Amino acid sequence: METNPAKKLTLVLMLLLCLPALAMTTEQEPADCAALLHSRCEMCHFNTRFCQKLGQKSKSAWKRTIKAMVGYGAKVTAEEQQMIQDCLAAPTPAVQDYCNAP
Ligand code: HEC
Repeated sequence: METNPAKKLTLVLMLLLCLPALAMTTEQEPADCAALLHSRCEMCHFNTRFCQKLGQKSKSAWKRTIKAMVGYGAKVTAEEQQMIQDCLAAPTPAVQDYCNAP
């Protein structure tokens, strides 16, 4: 039986090269907070409303804001509210990018 170490090495290298790509696709999943903000929070006003205060209010202050938005008619589940209050209080790079995008 032919054993070709170079072939094996190529396979391993190819697998390694695929890993970052896989990690990137999971990071950009629509369930992330930036996507959530985009789909749930831009229906009634521009994202400047909350992007201006990104990372400047506490989690409980954001929680109150989000509850107020639900009172205005925002459609966010309890789970989404949790995610949104977390990422507005402590924004991830993805959320910062979303807010800094022109
Ligand atoms: C159903 C419409 C609606 C949706 C959806 C909505 N908002 Fe608002 N939002 C409003 C209105 C109306 C105001 C203006 C009220 C005011 O100025 O006090 C406002 C104002 C704000 C303000 C500024 C006032 C403050 O209390 O600081 C922030 C921040 C804000 N919204 C964040 C959000 C976030 C975060 C979401 C997504 C969870 C969201 N909004 C979704 C209607 C909405």
